[in-house]
Amino acid sequence: MAVTSEQTPAKADPDSKQEEERRLHQRMEQIGRKLVVLSGKGGVGKSTVAPNLAAALAADHFKVGLLDVDIHGPSIPRLMGLEGTTLGTDGTSLLPVPVGENLAVMSIGFLLAKRTDAVIWRGPLKFGVIRQFLSDVAWGQLDFLVIDCPPGTGDEPLSVAQLVGQAALAVIVTTPQELAVSDVRRCITFCQQVGLPVAGIVENMSGFVCPQCGVSLNLFGRGGGEGLAREMGVPFLGCIPIDPGIVCGGDCGKPFATGASGPAKGAFSEVVRRIEESASEAAAGRRAGHCDSKGTACGHDQEPTHHCSCR
Ligand SMILES: Nc1ncnc2c1ncn2[C@@H]1O[C@H](COP(=O)(O)OP(=O)(O)O)[C@@H](O)[C@H]1O
Ligand SMILES: [Mg+2]
Ligand SMILES: [Zn+2]
Repeated sequence: MAVTSEQTPAKADPDSKQEEERRLHQRMEQIGRKLVVLSGKGGVGKSTVAPNLAAALAADHFKVGLLDVDIHGPSIPRLMGLEGTTLGTDGTSLLPVPVGENLAVMSIGFLLAKRTDAVIWRGPLKFGVIRQFLSDVAWGQLDFLVIDCPPGTGDEPLSVAQLVGQAALAVIVTTPQELAVSDVRRCITFCQQVGLPVAGIVENMSGFVCPQCGVSLNLFGRGGGEGLAREMGVPFLGCIPIDPGIVCGGDCGKPFATGASGPAKGAFSEVVRRIEESASEAAAGRRAGHCDSKGTACGHDQEPTHHCSCR
């Protein structure tokens, strides 16, 4: 079954429009920071970064919301082990799904009856549904709302940027590959155009350490994200290596950032620490600096090695 625009409610009258505005404003005022996870390309790891960032912040005792606005490909219910969850209401608002004490999750995926359901919505209707996710969900008082966007700079990121109001920061994910990096330039320009400050760039899938022989392979290259951050004058948030634990964590619905240690876990903690710093510096009206972790989390000063010797 496809959910179509015909199934969405009729246009609101001007009074209820004002009421909608008021509700949205009131909800957004209760959220300390909105972290909008963006990328130029699909498949680079936004939906890996977003729930893990949310889970890591929650583990750091922040109150966190995780919102999936990838209307055409919601993956958060699966990644958080929440598939098949039905939503409750408190009479006026939808209740986000709690995960532990500090995290609450909302996704269009919860509203689709089957995993194979498709959503066919045009731009203005997407704007409407994203507005509802922000204003008609009982988020309560949050330190952070992490928002997982679809790739590119289309209707969904634009709607988010226009609706979240103040105290929003973009977290931009890329792989080191030149193809992905060039799309991220557009993403940063988009942020500048819509007035969304950039917390920084995360370089995902940055190197792979062979678990057998410990040799480091740079499958998608290395340093592209950091180079772009320098070029565009935005902070660099760190590198996440390729880690089979991330694939397993995603498939079994358990964020790797709060699970057993693995190559990516330490690196990801650094990224989270910098985002926390960036958020508090932004709150203090300052900008965060560039990555200073050469040789530790990032390892950019290591020589690239191209051959795995365990075969
Ligand atoms: N660092 C990583 N190591 C291993 N697999 C990864 C890593 N980052 C992402 N993946 C995998 O790559 C795929 C695409 O990631 P995803 O987060 O869904 O991308 P996006 O949301 O940007 O489209 C997923 O299967 C995910 O498990
Ligand atoms: Mg995604
Ligand atoms: Zn090897």
